[in-house]
Amino acid sequence: MLSRREFIAKGTGTAVTVAAAASTGLLAGCANSAASHPPTVSSFHDLAGPRSLRAHARRHGLVYGSAVVIPVVQRNADFASLLSEQCGILVPSNELKMVALRPSRDAFNFGPPDFLYDFTQRNQMLMRGHTLCWHESVPGWIRKIDNKDDIKQIFMDHITTVCKHYAGKLHSWDVVNEAIDQNSKLPGGLRKSFWYDNLGPEYIDLAFHTARAADPDVKLTYNDYGVEGDNDGDAEKRRLILEMVKGMKSRGVPIDAVGIQSHLNAGMKYGQGVGDYIEAFRQLGLEVYLTELDVNDDKTASSDLAERDAIIAKTYTGFLQAALPNPAVKIVITWDLSDRFTWLNGIGSHRKEQPNRSQRPLPFDTDFKPKDCFYSLRDSFDRRKRA
Ligand code: XIL
Repeated sequence: MLSRREFIAKGTGTAVTVAAAASTGLLAGCANSAASHPPTVSSFHDLAGPRSLRAHARRHGLVYGSAVVIPVVQRNADFASLLSEQCGILVPSNELKMVALRPSRDAFNFGPPDFLYDFTQRNQMLMRGHTLCWHESVPGWIRKIDNKDDIKQIFMDHITTVCKHYAGKLHSWDVVNEAIDQNSKLPGGLRKSFWYDNLGPEYIDLAFHTARAADPDVKLTYNDYGVEGDNDGDAEKRRLILEMVKGMKSRGVPIDAVGIQSHLNAGMKYGQGVGDYIEAFRQLGLEVYLTELDVNDDKTASSDLAERDAIIAKTYTGFLQAALPNPAVKIVITWDLSDRFTWLNGIGSHRKEQPNRSQRPLPFDTDFKPKDCFYSLRDSFDRRKRA
């Protein structure tokens, strides 16, 4: 049995077979039994084991993984197998957000994330937590409370209880998600939010201190989007986040890593800006995680699938070429693994230009076949200097 530190240092294990997954009870409740499946989902196209994303990442000092919608993992055995084959780390897309986890003040819905944690352990994967504090995930019951002390107590109790529940188990936590928003026009570029309004700007430091007190080892991360591009808006947001993080470090706030969500736009060029941003955190002694990588191609005019996939793949490659050379980057996570489950098809605003066209932002298509961007990811991992 490896200790947690040894396990995390080890990074990833090898791909498991469907049969092995079945023998551990992974497929319990799924309609298809192991007997009717090939040994691994993608051995069909020869992408398993040493040829998987997880193995290529690991060889270059990275851990590759995916966000998942937990019920999908529970009901789709093929997909569960693909995840264990390709991923060294998983993160629940929604189930650890406060809205999902806290149906009421007294209730904690740990069932689904606990299932995922067990799944990761059976498959020698890491798990990260997303997220303890996010302006978009504030339960209705807490919004009804008009006593600021009470709200502060709930905020701290929430972080303490959730972090303690997983203490010693997770790779990292997105402690605070998306706290910067230039449009709010607040000091430091802070976003106007329920937490800001009720707790003041100190809520960010408080969240990190509270998380550290509850789990001394987990990597505490600040995560945000809109920092990837070489344009003025993204440059300004990078500056604001860097200032905020420097301030936290100078006050002794326990922060270990910065997450770059990496929701990219097809055809856009990514380079110097994100490269310098990562280097600035490396110089502060922080790790950097690409936490939610995908490519939105709503604005691509061509509807030819091969053309679209080629543009998406090129976007992946350009971004990863800018980000991966820096040794501070330790984690690359795509926001799901298959186009079948991408969030970009769930939210209308992501399909404004092409409302009748499905997005295809991820390494595997809706039939779990690898796409051009699978190879972009794998080749980009290979181009990184060996760790
Ligand atoms: C998304 C989920 O994927 C969706 O299922 C949900 O409806 C909305 O949230 N940035 C984040 C993630 O930090 O939490 C978001 O996840 C995607 C954008």
